[in-house]
Amino acid sequence: MSHAIYPGSFDPITNGHMSILESGLVSFEKITVAVLNNEKKRPLFSVNERIELTRDAIAARGLDTSRIEVDAFDGLLVDYCRRKSATVILRGLRAVADFEYELQMANMNRHLSGEIVTVFIMANDAYFYVSSNLCKEVCRLGGDVSKLVPTPVDVRLLAKLNEGK
Ligand code: PNS
Repeated sequence: MSHAIYPGSFDPITNGHMSILESGLVSFEKITVAVLNNEKKRPLFSVNERIELTRDAIAARGLDTSRIEVDAFDGLLVDYCRRKSATVILRGLRAVADFEYELQMANMNRHLSGEIVTVFIMANDAYFYVSSNLCKEVCRLGGDVSKLVPTPVDVRLLAKLNEGK
């Protein structure tokens, strides 16, 4: 069975991520969305919240949940891939700005594990400018991101940013 690991911070998952996941399902029988557990990066959402939001977004989109797993990982990505017996890392590419960072990571992962390949999928051009960080900033400043993130994320983002106000 073809199985790809789709890793990321997903803080939170956006429509750009969702478009990569949907395109990935055309090519891979199973995809594991692997949410990085790294509290040192001071994410807005805890790893459990990010997992829950990702699952809610997948359900809201009506994707085939029998082919998608959402999991947390820490440590080296290649070690996680080995534990999952997966040989493909799936990553999305937006503009040229992503290219250098992605090339560096793909080559480092190839150096660490020659049998694991990174496959890139171009994000839907409607979401080329969308990133989790920009969505958080725009939402924090009162802007509307409802068309850029899945509905469950939009709701939780507003609630989270209003916590303690
Ligand atoms: O969504 P992001 O923050 O761009 O995702 C980055 C991620 C999680 C893919 C990357 O930071 C990662 O793989 N971290 C795990 C640690 C690791 O394996 N580092 C060496 C490979 S470059």
